Amino acid sequence: MDVPLPPLTQIPPSIAAVSDYEPLARQRMSVQAWAYIAGGAADELTLAENQAAFQRIRLRTRVLADLSGGNTRLQLFGQAFVHPIFLAPVAYQRLAHADGELATALAASAVQAGMVLSTQSSVTLEAVAEQADNPLWFQLYIQPDRAFTEALVKRAEAAGYQALVLTVDAPVNGMRNREQRAGFSLPQGIEAVNLRGMQPLHEPAPPSGGLLLGGALLAAAPTWADVQWLRSLTRLPILLKGVMSAEDAQRAVAEGVDGIIVSNHGGRTLDGQPATIEVLGEIAAVVQRRIPLLLDGGVRRGTDVFKAMALGADAVLLGRPYVYGLATAGASGVAHVVQLLRAELEVTMALTGCRDLASITGACIR
Ligand code: FNR
Ligand code: LAC
Repeated sequence: MDVPLPPLTQIPPSIAAVSDYEPLARQRMSVQAWAYIAGGAADELTLAENQAAFQRIRLRTRVLADLSGGNTRLQLFGQAFVHPIFLAPVAYQRLAHADGELATALAASAVQAGMVLSTQSSVTLEAVAEQADNPLWFQLYIQPDRAFTEALVKRAEAAGYQALVLTVDAPVNGMRNREQRAGFSLPQGIEAVNLRGMQPLHEPAPPSGGLLLGGALLAAAPTWADVQWLRSLTRLPILLKGVMSAEDAQRAVAEGVDGIIVSNHGGRTLDGQPATIEVLGEIAAVVQRRIPLLLDGGVRRGTDVFKAMALGADAVLLGRPYVYGLATAGASGVAHVVQLLRAELEVTMALTGCRDLASITGACIR
């Protein structure tokens, strides 16, 4: 088995696109860590479809538009962002680089990207907040222990996180076959440090003789009632991450949620779901811009960012691409990934006659 290479200290000029980072990252991770980060659920159909569906969408150019005063600015929940490319919550980033989430936060500040820190980060939420000087959001997994969860929310507030991203699509682990085949487990020294001290759920076998249904894990899984419970705990904006149906989007708006992230968890939970970009339109149609709508899954090009905005997203998040930048060259790699996509987005806007994000509409695609 090949020994992982060290991270690069300079970005090679031959890196022309985000996809160029993937092979470089792979050489810098153990086989096990690679399987964890790159893999998806089961046959990885949804993982592949997230990218394939973007590639099927065609753009409409418009010529001779006046592009003076152009920009990619946006506001979400009263927070100002200079571009719509966010860093999605990704657990255990020290698997990719020794500095893990600290390097990501440094890069996010440098390129003014909104960053969402995972509940399962491998650096404490407080240490990451100290590193960053741009808006951070905290991704929350509601734990079986609700008192611990409440304390976690209070810690995130105290550390200055400006929104909560409640992930609702992963109450049980996805069937990540690639990970199991590679024999992945967390190496010594990498753990979910924010969850230290939490009592693990003691899970007796389901009484019915079933395997999962009827058991303690699902009995403790969050429901819509927990969204109201969370609302009662905090004044931070709450986004639901993992919505894939118009019905759930409608319910989220009715429940007073502040934002929605259309996501299938990067194809890591239930294989057989459609691509996120394929369901965005029907979700945008019910949300009707009443609350911000974000999307992640398969965003690899500035044209993908643009396509998502044309179909109704206010912003997008990147998952694996920036982690590949992190593994390849630490903070510089993460920053470069964001800058590549920003540059591609701006070229796309110029060639489609869109001077700002509000100009990107359904008329920009075929
Ligand atoms: C994730 N994702 C994720 N989501 C979340 O809400 N909490 C988490 O802790 C994690 N952890 C995690 C680890 C790894 C290794 C990956 C690849 C992904 C999902 C992530 O936020 C996002 O939804 C997807 O990664 C987006 O898809 P792409 O950009 O990877 O295709
Ligand atoms: C994952 C979990 C941590 O996707 O959300 O690996």
